[in-house]
Amino acid sequence: MALRYIVKYGHPALRMKARQIETISASIRELAEDMIETMEVAEGIGLAAPQIAESKTLLVINAGLIEEDVPAKVYINPVILAEAGSISMEEGCLSIPDIREDVIRPEMIKIKYLDLEGGQHEEECNGMLARVLQHEVDHLNGLLFVDRISQIKRKLLSKKLKAIATQSKEETAQP
Ligand code: NI
Repeated sequence: MALRYIVKYGHPALRMKARQIETISASIRELAEDMIETMEVAEGIGLAAPQIAESKTLLVINAGLIEEDVPAKVYINPVILAEAGSISMEEGCLSIPDIREDVIRPEMIKIKYLDLEGGQHEEECNGMLARVLQHEVDHLNGLLFVDRISQIKRKLLSKKLKAIATQSKEETAQP
């Protein structure tokens, strides 16, 4: 296992639509393990592959932070099939450090995905899990939570976001 570098706001990988996973190969399983380790060390509740600059529809959830003693969960090629309700919750993102904002999203979702063994799942969820999954699926589509806040709020954050993007450029330019 290896820790991976989490790219920050302004990095082009965060704006790309991730590529579907056709085969759950050994390298995909290794990538999932790396992502879980990276997420846990960063103390994040979720991590999507584009955040470590891998264009793949893969995300991991730190389920132990939602429900005690539950292992981290891997979602391959996740698709949200249905959604219901609407609720405001505060969100943050490992790729947008030190910024947290309230975001309105559906309260409940139905999601389908593959596990690491290729098993197909269809699940309904709500609460924190539904919230984190929607945030991470957004990453697979090149979307960030700051895209979902009001224009006024985003304008208020623009200086901070620019500073993150500038720092990110300097960091990734280093050898
Ligand atoms: Ni995020």
